[in-house]
Amino acid sequence: MKDNRLIKRALEAAEKAWAPYSGFRVGAAVLLEDGTVVCGNNQENRAYPLGSCAERVAINYARANYPTLRIVAIAIASPDSKPPTSPCGGCREVLLEAVRAQQGEDIRVIMSDRSENEIREAMATDLLPWAFECDGR
Ligand code: THU
Repeated sequence: MKDNRLIKRALEAAEKAWAPYSGFRVGAAVLLEDGTVVCGNNQENRAYPLGSCAERVAINYARANYPTLRIVAIAIASPDSKPPTSPCGGCREVLLEAVRAQQGEDIRVIMSDRSENEIREAMATDLLPWAFECDGR
């Protein structure tokens, strides 16, 4: 699947976000190795720390429903952001869990602005150098 198509899916998903507290909607689209795309968006809560980022909703859905399929790429975008939307530190840890503990292969992270003009790309492992290690596990 072309990156632009995946970014569009992320932007579509963002339209369904639940973000009444921040007003900042985020969408994420995860591409699996067989071409399946699963999407997520941020889900906030009036008890603010209980909210979930779009990336985590999408990655955890993919891991829960397609545990045997490798995650190839994730596109992230927000209609409410001029610059490209980057995954937060916590979501980078969650991406690395899939890479290191579950599938062993890196994930392309595609970050877009709201109009698909400025697009950044990085591998998940490059987004979190010196990540937490837990006794080699
Ligand atoms: N958010 C995401 O969904 N992904 C990120 O990587 C960073 C932030 C959400 C969390 C919150 O609902 C809103 O954006 C404002 O921080």
